[in-house]
Amino acid sequence: MVNSRGKDQNILITGGTSGLGLELVRFFLKQGYNVFATGRQKVSLIGFESRFTLLNIDFSDLKEVSTGVKTICTNHSFSLVINNAGILSPPSYTETADGYEYTFQVNFLAHLLINEIIVNSINNRHKIKIVTITSPVYRFASLHPGIEKNEKNYRPMRSYSTSKLCLAMMPDLLSTRYNDAALMCFSFDPGTFSSGIYRMQKRWFRALYRVAAPFMRSSAGVAKVLAELISEDETVSGRIYDRSKNIRTFPEMDTSQKAAFTESCYALIDRFLK
Ligand SMILES: NC(=O)c1ccc[n+]([C@@H]2O[C@H](COP(=O)([O-])OP(=O)(O)OC[C@H]3O[C@@H](n4cnc5c(N)ncnc54)[C@H](OP(=O)(O)O)[C@@H]3O)[C@@H](O)[C@H]2O)c1
Repeated sequence: MVNSRGKDQNILITGGTSGLGLELVRFFLKQGYNVFATGRQKVSLIGFESRFTLLNIDFSDLKEVSTGVKTICTNHSFSLVINNAGILSPPSYTETADGYEYTFQVNFLAHLLINEIIVNSINNRHKIKIVTITSPVYRFASLHPGIEKNEKNYRPMRSYSTSKLCLAMMPDLLSTRYNDAALMCFSFDPGTFSSGIYRMQKRWFRALYRVAAPFMRSSAGVAKVLAELISEDETVSGRIYDRSKNIRTFPEMDTSQKAAFTESCYALIDRFLK
């Protein structure tokens, strides 16, 4: 059943073609929102064609991200943006065409760029919520995240957890940068659930995952919890929530190091903002 709660409101869900993102797309379409999703795969959502737009954007190409999001922002404003697209790090060091480590760019840097374009868009002069999807593993990342450039130092799990720590830091980063009451941002740790996340992994991992998937939590259940958090007035900006809606602690970080890291990340996306 479709209701009219989200009538005339636009939302953007990155990675809306699979797993958690696709379930969020379905949920918000049923709520009556106009949903824009990014992804490279095709999806058809029968009955919702007039309110669903799929943007074919590859996050390993920041020029493509920038052009796609700027184009959509010329005609649309967004009340909600969900930074959901993500991969489990590939088994071996992989660089994007832009010259950055693949996981860091797809999971974090592309979202930093998207948020920056949308928040600064001329059409986005009203309240906006930004949600970033982190993971339980953000707690295992180094407290001094760096931008990995050394193939020899590459560890897939470290790369993934660093990207997820960066996404957990995003609410703090955006509120420090904008200090604007119209911008509400929180991070969501969904725990583990079954999805297509195994796609870039080795064959044995994919086989194991398919065996375990029926026993795992569903993406739809996780999407429902996140949708509730988004709609609740009690949800506090700047926090990290888990799927039980508890607030997760954020590791104490050295403020100057955090500021330096933020600055270095913005320097990486600067040329795609012009
Ligand atoms: N599954 C878990 O247990 C788990 C646990 C903790 C956190 N998470 C996080 O939850 C989020 C959703 O993941 P999921 O588990 O639902 O995985 P999924 O089913 O694989 O969905 C990932 C989405 O990201 C998009 N994506 C991947 N690479 C991309 C690229 N290069 N360019 C553009 N889009 C890309 C995919 O779109 P296309 O393939 O169409 O491009 C897809 O829509 C991710 O941020 C993940 O890290 C998942």
